Amino acid sequence: MPQTLSAAPGLTTGHAPFVEEARERGHLYITQAYELYSEENHEAWRRLFARMRPRWEQYANPHFLRGVEALQLPPDRIPRLDEVNRRLEPLTGFQAKAVSGYVPGFLFFDCLRRREFPTTITIRDKDHMDYLPEPDIFHDVAGHVPMHTQRAFADVLVRFGDCAHTAVEMTAGIRDYAERARRLTSIMRAMSRFFWFTVEFGLMRGPRGICAYGSGLLSSYGELQHAIESGAVQRYPLQMEWVINQGAEIDHYQPLLFIVDSFDHLFGLVDRFENWMREGKLDNVAPGLPQIAESDLRSFMEAGRA
Ligand SMILES: [Fe+2]
Repeated sequence: MPQTLSAAPGLTTGHAPFVEEARERGHLYITQAYELYSEENHEAWRRLFARMRPRWEQYANPHFLRGVEALQLPPDRIPRLDEVNRRLEPLTGFQAKAVSGYVPGFLFFDCLRRREFPTTITIRDKDHMDYLPEPDIFHDVAGHVPMHTQRAFADVLVRFGDCAHTAVEMTAGIRDYAERARRLTSIMRAMSRFFWFTVEFGLMRGPRGICAYGSGLLSSYGELQHAIESGAVQRYPLQMEWVINQGAEIDHYQPLLFIVDSFDHLFGLVDRFENWMREGKLDNVAPGLPQIAESDLRSFMEAGRA
């Protein structure tokens, strides 16, 4: 093994000085700094990819599988984002864009609107193969990005970005600060739940039965099978009334998942979501999870000041 490889400091989730320093300096968009990955980081990718592959073949929707092929994700090393983007961009205009950490709500959705997907560059360490509360490059690039090769799904993400702008527009005229914050918080909660139960944990009717298109499922070895096979999971056709009022818990396998018929169906649902926002139907959704972080709320409040 060449000295330079084994000596690389690594970009391991929770232990990546390059990323932490960028964050401290307030730099959200960063380079992938590929040479910093350690051999152990590549090994983590290899193991994650090798064990996911048969599960994808069994449970992923066919568009996802075609996306993995189209991007030629390497099985044996962490992918370079510029290589991924060279194959992705001509298909849907989407690009994976390296970030140093959490992207505040409005900025995140605004990126989607520009067809940029904020992408984590660190990878989980080998002792946490199964579950990681925060995203890593396996979740973002192996779980999300193959879906971005599909035109209808890519358009859904752009429409989520439009919805964030609509939320700002709809509340910009409210002069009472507290009332504006209250209303935005409710809309943001509805939007996170909708995003959670579709883009992250969505199920779809497929040619061979129910399959997964949500990236939280597609990047989890244990939960992907559980989501499709387990009798402990409730699976229902997506109903907007339910989804926007349903608390989303992140620290265990999801006991409740929603099914759409197709990406065109999902696209139509985002339209309906936006219409409901315009009609004020999202101004008082059920309280509960997710909690809306101060930084997320601020990103929406400040977007309206332009
Ligand atoms: Fe995600």
